[in-house]
Formats: sequence, structure tokens, C-alpha cells
Amino acid sequence: MFTVEEFVASCQEALKEHTPEQAVQELVAQAMSDPLELEAELGTPTAAKLTTLHHSSELTVLNIIWPPGIALYPHEHNMWAVIGLYGGQEDNTFYTRNKEGTGLIRTGAQELHSHDAIALAKDAIHAVANPRSEYTGAIHVYGGDFFEEPRSQWASAESEEAPYNVEQVRRVFQMANERWLAQQESTG
Ligand SMILES: [Fe+2]
Repeated sequence: MFTVEEFVASCQEALKEHTPEQAVQELVAQAMSDPLELEAELGTPTAAKLTTLHHSSELTVLNIIWPPGIALYPHEHNMWAVIGLYGGQEDNTFYTRNKEGTGLIRTGAQELHSHDAIALAKDAIHAVANPRSEYTGAIHVYGGDFFEEPRSQWASAESEEAPYNVEQVRRVFQMANERWLAQQESTG
């Protein structure tokens, strides 16, 4: 059975491993193997959410519910991350800084579906979108302090690097959620 308490405790144990991101990826993959158990603990995704399940200087665990149609601009974490999905779809586009330091170059993309669990390296830069007409349920685990770590975001791949702003991220969530709800009302 999946419980937040046990999952967080396992992640904390995994931090002691030689490659914690690999150990955490295995834990996340295991947790994603039964989406119904996750829904039983976290609820069925029905509204955009960015919920902190655990937060310390070494480890952050978030429950992210991506609203339909959201497209979050490129950003980095400056720490390893593991992303797991228990419903819907999360499209990741990866980037690296261009040589001129004036923006980003696209390096690849990966569609994530329910049951998937991937690890992102410390220097990863990604943009995230939910292309589906349903909410996406995800668990994101970070090897550090997600909220306090100094890092960057880019309004678009062509934009200048700017300090990461978590409040702006929350606004993007809220706006996408409102857009989706308005669209639902207008289509009945
Ligand atoms: Fe991210």
C-alpha cells in the first residue's frame, strides 16, 4: 500500500545511497506501478495542484496535478530530480544553454505516461506540458530544497535567463486551470 509517510521515509533512506537519484527512481517506479493506490492516498486528480508532501534542505517531494493544456516555460532545478506519473501525460522538452548565453537550444523531448518514472540530471533544463484533456497526476522528487535553491527560468527558449520564481509557476497553474474550467463550461 502506498502512503506518503512511508514513501518519504524510503526516499530519505535512498539519500544515503551512492547514487540517490537511481535509488529514488526505483522507488518512484515502484510507486507508479499501481496508480489506484496513489489515487487512494492522494485523491483522484480533479484540479490543478502543486502540493508539498515533504520539504527539507536535502529532499523535496511534490504532488503535482497538471491541468489540461498547461505549458510551463523552460526552467532548471540545479539538483537531480525524479518524475513519476500515475495518470495522464506529461510532455517534457529538454534544453541546454546556447554558447552565446542568450537563450536555449532544444536537445530532445520525452512523453511521459502513467507508470513512467524518469530521472533528470542536476544540469537538466526542461519545459513541461500536458497536451491532454484530463488532469495529469505526478510525483516529483528533488535532491535538495526545491523552493530555496537559486536557479533559472526562461520565458521561452529565445528569452534571457531569469531567476526562478515559484509564485509565477503557481500563477501559470492557476491560469491554465481557469482556462480549462471556462472551456468546460462553454462546451457544456
Ligand atoms: Fe521542473
